[in-house]
Amino acid sequence: MSLLEVDGVVVQFGGVIAVNGAGFTAEAGRVTGLIGPNGAGKTTCFNVISGLQKPNRGTIRFDGRTVTGAPVHRRSKRGMGRTFQRLEAFGSLSVRDNVRVAFDIHRGITGLLRPVAADVDALLERVGISAYARDRADSIPTGTARLLELARCLAADPKLLLLDEPSSGLDEAETDAFGELLRGLAAEGRGILMVEHDMDLVMTVCDEIHVLDFGEVIASGAPADIRANPRVQEAYLGYSDPADETRHDLPPVELTSELPAVQEVST
Ligand SMILES: Nc1ncnc2c1ncn2[C@@H]1O[C@H](COP(=O)(O)OP(=O)(O)OP(=O)(O)O)[C@@H](O)[C@H]1O
Ligand SMILES: [Mg+2]
Repeated sequence: MSLLEVDGVVVQFGGVIAVNGAGFTAEAGRVTGLIGPNGAGKTTCFNVISGLQKPNRGTIRFDGRTVTGAPVHRRSKRGMGRTFQRLEAFGSLSVRDNVRVAFDIHRGITGLLRPVAADVDALLERVGISAYARDRADSIPTGTARLLELARCLAADPKLLLLDEPSSGLDEAETDAFGELLRGLAAEGRGILMVEHDMDLVMTVCDEIHVLDFGEVIASGAPADIRANPRVQEAYLGYSDPADETRHDLPPVELTSELPAVQEVST
């Protein structure tokens, strides 16, 4: 049984079918990539998995239970954490206080009581942003803010992390360190499902990759298989001939893509 099972999910916004029967899994202890061209439905899938978007059809199973209709906080309590493509930190709070609040929210949900200061500093250290601890969250670089999002997510000690474009804004060295961090989190037994446009990172770090195109999963497999898959090349690049000299391996990287407001699900 997989940690996360997405089955037959359909999401329709008016005339737009954002997700069209998508099905895929993510395993504990592994890094799974969810990739696809802009508008393929990746963030919408994340919204369905995390409970922000009600699907028209389909089911989500998490850690052995069907959670399709469960509210966000219940999924969170069961061990699902997520970061957002559009940054969600509290801009007027310091980096440290942002993480402290995340711990407090988690404690409020779970009823756990334990000293927090050392935990906060350990998390800042782990994601590599201790130097920014006192800075306001709205004053730090985008890449650092993404690491802050990850720290806030980790404060809830999730079994599954849903990361939406976590590396955008990181330079090459920071991206390498981030890849190591993800491997370390997976080695602890956490499942990671990552939407990411940086193909070098995806190909290096992921154990398995699912490719979405127009809301459908068109390929699933190991990085080498995905890279060689003609359908994937066509979806990304508009051609399927590997000998084509215009070939390039990286899809465009979007640093700030604004999403329409997410429709909240009443609970
Ligand atoms: N709340 C919404 N209302 C209407 N249409 C939406 C909404 N959210 C997403 N869409 C549309 O659904 C489709 C899938 O969008 P989604 O944001 O899931 O794609 P994505 O794969 O995350 O793209 P990107 O790589 O650009 O982030 C797009 O056509 C988008 O315009
Ligand atoms: Mg997206």
